[in-house]
Amino acid sequence: MLIRKLHLHERPLFVEHLRRLPPNDRQFRFAHAHVTDEAIARYVGRIDHDDLILGCLAEDRLVGGAHVAFTGEVAEVGLSVDPDHRAQGIGAELFRRASHWARNRRAQKLYTLCQTDNRAMLALAAKLGMVVHRESGTAEAFLALDPPDLLTVSDELSVGVHNVINEWTDLMRTCGGVLLAPPRSGR
Ligand SMILES: CC(C)(COP(=O)(O)OP(=O)(O)OC[C@H]1O[C@@H](n2cnc3c(N)ncnc32)[C@H](O)[C@@H]1OP(=O)(O)O)[C@@H](O)C(=O)NCCC(=O)NCCS
Repeated sequence: MLIRKLHLHERPLFVEHLRRLPPNDRQFRFAHAHVTDEAIARYVGRIDHDDLILGCLAEDRLVGGAHVAFTGEVAEVGLSVDPDHRAQGIGAELFRRASHWARNRRAQKLYTLCQTDNRAMLALAAKLGMVVHRESGTAEAFLALDPPDLLTVSDELSVGVHNVINEWTDLMRTCGGVLLAPPRSGR
């Protein structure tokens, strides 16, 4: 299981992951009812290039994702985990990474909006030390962020280095295969 930033060309994986959420979870994730497959594609298509999408990959599938959008000093997080991968700590780990990477971008507050009947998200917010304000069916959770430090920077750097090594290995496998293949016999 690997948590890392998704590249632009990998955003379709995020669409597929969100589309696997059943209707009730879609309502929890987007804070409104009847979120269609088309609405999910539009939502992901509109995500700003400067926003972060963190993905949790397991067996070549995106099993969890966090979209972090920046508005001034506030980083807003939308979080989701595939139903068959819940209660394994993935949501908490995505949130922890999102907070580190938001600190690296000098955000001062992490914010998430959820419904007051979303027991899992409210329990997760409490576990992460977020301050929750409830008002008529919705709950806003805030976490004050410290400035970046060695840990937050090395966290993001180590994932970046891991990506570079993986891509390099892939490239070598492809190019090595071409260079070492026996030449085609001429006609
Ligand atoms: C909220 C969500 C992301 C949690 O993901 P997860 O990977 O299952 O969460 P974790 O395994 O990291 O659990 C972290 C904590 O949340 C709490 N929790 C998780 N599921 C819970 C549930 N069904 N009921 C009560 N508490 C729950 C627990 O306190 C847990 O900590 P613990 O294991 O130490 O007791 C997931 O349920 C989900 O995708 N829901 C639909 C989308 C959504 O509601 N998004 C939030 C609004 S943006």
